[in-house]
Amino acid sequence: MVMFYGLLLLLLFPNSAFCQTNGSVKVGTTLSATDDSPPWLSASGDFAFGFHQLGNNKDLFLLSIWYANIPDKTIVWYTKANPPTAPRGSILNLTVDRGLVLTNPQGQELWKSDSVLGDVSHGVMSDEGNFIIENSNSEKLWETFDHPTDTMLPTQTLDRGGVLSSRQTETNFSKGRFQLRLQQDGNLVLNTINLPTDFANRPYYASGTDEGTDSSTAGKQLVFNETGNMYVLRANGGSYILAGGDLVSSRNNYFRAILSFDGVFTQYYHPKSGNGKWTFLKAIPDDICLTMRVEGGAGVCGHNSLCKLKEEQRPSCGCPIGYSLIDPNDDYGSCKADFIQGCEEDELSSKEDLYGVEEIINADWPMSDYAQLKPFEGENCKESCLKDCLCAVAIFRDGTCWKKKLPLSNGRFNNNLNSRAFIKIRKDSFTFPNGTNGHSQAPSNKTKNQDTLIRAGAALLGTSVFVNVVLAAAVCFGFFLIYQKKRKTFSPSQNTPESNLRCFPYKELEEATNGFEEELGRGAFGIVYKGTLQTSSGVVIAVKKLHFVAQETEKEFRNEVNVIGQTHHKNLVRLIGYCDGGQNRLLVYEHLQNGTLANFMFGDLKPSWKQRTGLALDIAKGLLYLHEECSSQIIHCDIKPQNILLDEYNNAKISDFGLAKLLMMNQSQTNTAIRGTKGYVAPEWFRNMPITSKVDVYSFGVVLLEIICCRKSVDMENGEEGREILTDWAYDCFREGSLDVLVDYEADVLDDKKKLETYVRVSMWCIQENPSLRPNMRKVVQMLEGVVEVHAPPCPSPYSITITY
Ligand SMILES: *[C@@H]1O[C@H](CO)[C@@H](O)[C@H](O)[C@H]1NC(C)=O
Ligand SMILES: *[C@@H]1O[C@H](CO)[C@@H](O)[C@H](O)[C@H]1NC(C)=O
Repeated sequence: MVMFYGLLLLLLFPNSAFCQTNGSVKVGTTLSATDDSPPWLSASGDFAFGFHQLGNNKDLFLLSIWYANIPDKTIVWYTKANPPTAPRGSILNLTVDRGLVLTNPQGQELWKSDSVLGDVSHGVMSDEGNFIIENSNSEKLWETFDHPTDTMLPTQTLDRGGVLSSRQTETNFSKGRFQLRLQQDGNLVLNTINLPTDFANRPYYASGTDEGTDSSTAGKQLVFNETGNMYVLRANGGSYILAGGDLVSSRNNYFRAILSFDGVFTQYYHPKSGNGKWTFLKAIPDDICLTMRVEGGAGVCGHNSLCKLKEEQRPSCGCPIGYSLIDPNDDYGSCKADFIQGCEEDELSSKEDLYGVEEIINADWPMSDYAQLKPFEGENCKESCLKDCLCAVAIFRDGTCWKKKLPLSNGRFNNNLNSRAFIKIRKDSFTFPNGTNGHSQAPSNKTKNQDTLIRAGAALLGTSVFVNVVLAAAVCFGFFLIYQKKRKTFSPSQNTPESNLRCFPYKELEEATNGFEEELGRGAFGIVYKGTLQTSSGVVIAVKKLHFVAQETEKEFRNEVNVIGQTHHKNLVRLIGYCDGGQNRLLVYEHLQNGTLANFMFGDLKPSWKQRTGLALDIAKGLLYLHEECSSQIIHCDIKPQNILLDEYNNAKISDFGLAKLLMMNQSQTNTAIRGTKGYVAPEWFRNMPITSKVDVYSFGVVLLEIICCRKSVDMENGEEGREILTDWAYDCFREGSLDVLVDYEADVLDDKKKLETYVRVSMWCIQENPSLRPNMRKVVQMLEGVVEVHAPPCPSPYSITITY
């Protein structure tokens, strides 16, 4: 029988893996952190021990153990060095006296397998995924199973005092803030720690296997047995089952249990045959968002954030309306208010109604309250927070009102909460650029400036569209000046930060475009030509030759261009440089090869529903960045499918942002702008109303509808009676519950009816005539992502005022 298996193994793993290593590694053997250094494989070839190159940095490696037979590289162990990464060229050596020693190319020690007692004879990469150091009698001196990181494998146990520690993120292996511990009293717990210290907060999960009154039932060991069962073994031999793997064959499947970076301890299985994927089996706790109630800690998500359960009992995090991520790259991090709030700041403002309230149903931050009012009414709760300069949020539930101050912690979102959260938000949505001192000047002063200018502009609004659009540009120009000014006032140093823009000589661009030969497109601002940069090894560029005759100084032009150049987002077309040759002003952009969204959507082939929803989210994220996340707010003023480009992977990128001010430079060109813009402009352009970033939200709503239906917003020729104006027709369909008509019975879309309904609702909210009813782009993104609920929208144009173009 044994021979048979041996033969089978030989057949399955011919030569290389099997014969080469046999799972055993002699003292003196080394591994090096390079691209092609083969790892040490276990006898069966299931596991590998070696250097894993980190995806985001080609020169960083992680000494780790992973599954060698499945394409999805899954790491089950790594060194707990700080940082855990080793630079390229680092060497791992199996030594006689100290076991494994990892040194960098300069010879400095980065990590070693500690407490190895006795003389090392060899190491073994076992078929269970355990790397074992043994002496010549094959006695274990050290093993990775005794020094786990975030994962446990079948046959691995955790004794009292043992700890699993999460990583920072899926791909960053530095120590994260979650722990699984088998406490000395026998209780298995999950808790957060307050980094950079190891201070453990109160557990958010406990198995209840502590000593209590009877030490015989206390937990002794956490066991992951070879058939995939996971349980706490009690002192008396009983067990407290966490997860049973009985339903899944352990002969045909790998098992692993990982404390994920977001705090959930999850068991997965994966077919050994190589194909397939990791499938969820069991996780604790049941609902991390609800059970997390930690005094002194932020919660699952960061401070001021909201946690919502998604698939596989994992949490997703989002900032509430009016708040945004402190670190835009860390979705699980803390949020900050996008406005200044405080008793002192409020006093400085003469305005009565400085704040408004946004309501989120079924959200709560269970800690951080400073006042509890009872019995109370919902409306009074809202009022009470609004009038209280300490109050950031009030929660109302069952006749009780809790007023809360910043920072909020342990935020969660759950349909069973039955609560109403009133979030206080500054109405003027006045935001400060990053890193500035909000106290140096009363915010109200600048708000006034802005108002005055808008009113001046709005008063001039006449009936002619021509005049309107010119004014639209003028108002955007005004904004531009204000933000420009604001940036100057608030910049800690007086200089605007320089961007990496290149200043091109005119001649170089003339040559790159072969004398402006190949035209890519024409827009309101100028003609775009394709070009190739000879100096940068053939980089393809799009050169926009601006129409207008220069009226501003070189310095002004450069300042404007720098504002655009400072934007960096994957859903924005990147500006590479510019040329300021007096009469010839050109902007040089990255070239996107798949053309415009308009061509993509209204062409012969309809893009799939999945592609379309992806595009909508891309655009929303790009706009969110322009409105809230770049150093000075940019209102686009001209969102339409012609201004959205697609890269080679069909990701959407917004173009022409920041150019609104240039539109007015030569008024004869505005005619083209009207044609392009018709159907996308928000009604406040035509009314005596202030212009805010909500104009972009309106245009986005129209584009979103176009994406949903794959048709143009205004279609006079092919449209059936009553269907010419998409926004009107869409609302009719929505009201009548006939969304299938709206998407022309497209099967692809109707299969995903829930998302369709969500997207239509979001678009209806965006095209509300009343700008204050429209959500901001952050909320739009959250709604599209399904993080916040989308309530049924009211009729977008309740006043039924006809706008004549
Ligand atoms: C991982 O995160 C830590 C802490 O946030 C950071 O210092 C480190 O640079 C990150 N490592 C990588 C490889 O990105
Ligand atoms: C694993 O644990 C389960 C549950 O305690 C038990 O039924 C099973 O026999 C165990 N398997 C092995 C191989 O010990």
